[in-house]
Amino acid sequence: MSKFAWVTLTTNDTYSLGALVLAHSLKRSGTAHQLAVLVTPTVSDAMRDRLKDVYNLVQEVNVLDSQDAANLALLARPELGVTFTKLHCWRLEQYEKCVFLDADTLVLKNCDELFEREELSAAPDVSWPDCFNSGVFVFKPSLDTFNKITEFAIKHGSFDGGDQGLLNQYFADWSTADIKKHLPFVYNVTAYASYCYLPAFKQFRDKIKILHFAGKLKPWLIPFNSQTKTASTPHDYTHAHDLIQHWWTLFCDNVHNVLDNAMHKAPGSEEASVSSPGSAQGEAGLAGALAQLRIGVQRTPEQEHYENLMRRQCWESGQIDYAGADAFENIWKKITQTLEAKTEKTEDAEQTDNANASDNDNDNTTLSSNKLLTQSASQLLQQVSAASSRRSPSPRPAAVRTEQQSSNKTEATTSSRSQHIQQSTSTAAKARGQKGMRKFK
Ligand code: UDP
Ligand code: GLC
Ligand code: MN
Repeated sequence: MSKFAWVTLTTNDTYSLGALVLAHSLKRSGTAHQLAVLVTPTVSDAMRDRLKDVYNLVQEVNVLDSQDAANLALLARPELGVTFTKLHCWRLEQYEKCVFLDADTLVLKNCDELFEREELSAAPDVSWPDCFNSGVFVFKPSLDTFNKITEFAIKHGSFDGGDQGLLNQYFADWSTADIKKHLPFVYNVTAYASYCYLPAFKQFRDKIKILHFAGKLKPWLIPFNSQTKTASTPHDYTHAHDLIQHWWTLFCDNVHNVLDNAMHKAPGSEEASVSSPGSAQGEAGLAGALAQLRIGVQRTPEQEHYENLMRRQCWESGQIDYAGADAFENIWKKITQTLEAKTEKTEDAEQTDNANASDNDNDNTTLSSNKLLTQSASQLLQQVSAASSRRSPSPRPAAVRTEQQSSNKTEATTSSRSQHIQQSTSTAAKARGQKGMRKFK
């Protein structure tokens, strides 16, 4: 048995969708090595069973959370405090060497040569290349290192509130000490345009070995048409459409048929939920909604329900496809259609009223204001269409540090940090006592 392993992490059933697709991409690459996944108590039993089908090891760990709202706000990703849970990967001492992969990565080619590298090898982060991106890194499991990093975290925190800031502070000489620890960028290519150097993406597209869907918009959040099995790639990400489609094809071929209604939404998460009678452990989240889809058949009410759910979830989490499906023009079209439909209804009602010779001032007021609104809407729509044909698509708003954010900054103190970055297994984890699951003590 190989002493090397690929390791990932998932803290809920939604990120587990990524972990499942990732495992299939690794198998497809023909790796000779083991696959291990760290799961927290918030991953459902149904999902763990599916993970066990493709991972050699499903290891339960307790959540480690930086609780550092101020620094996470700088990153504009308040949910990433739990990425401290990644640190548990250093406890996998049964392996000689490992490569950590985020659950939102996709392996496109065999990368077994990565195990020839030493700790800590990683590729530069696109936004700050003197830091490494912690979505892909080579490490050597060691309890001693785990203890040192957690102690360091309690003392110093993380400058981005997540594992990447912490690991860059801990492995502080990465950018200068040893060039062999700089992985080529093809081992961790960021997919999205806002982070991406598009001409290079096009030029070196076929050399990419690992793609990383870093950023808020994960492939599983991109609307997907179950009838045609195609992803509706948002306008900003057109250059990566075939890779997003590759994720969804792996999903359709290997993951969809093993999903279960009992896969739920993470407790307390902002994820939109769907009503699912089969969901015993909590509201069904995205994995539960996807389980209900039928792939390759005519659109069903479930498909429409799922699309609405996705659309709403993306909209509410700030993922708005300004130049595509959510374009201002489309919103106005919808408003106009609704108002026109309402006007027609009112006119019909008025004709009936006139026939009855009963004059009603209120109805007239409604009718004229509806007509006015419809006219204004269509005038505005024309102006917008004219304007939009003159301008290029608007970029996604960048995460900026506002004055208010910096003045409100309340850094996590050493004592509050130590409460959350604890090494003991949580009560929930102890209570669970998973059968067939190996647990850290
Ligand atoms: N993760 C998780 N649950 C969460 C957030 C993150 O399991 O709620 C894990 C998952 O493996 C994920 C990694 O932590 O890929 C890092 O988070 P993410 O990929 O969202 O960060 P990004 O790469 O977008 O900065
Ligand atoms: C990043 C990395 C991710 C990490 C996060 C928080 O951008 O891609 O792996 O978890 O920052 O530090
Ligand atoms: Mn990631």
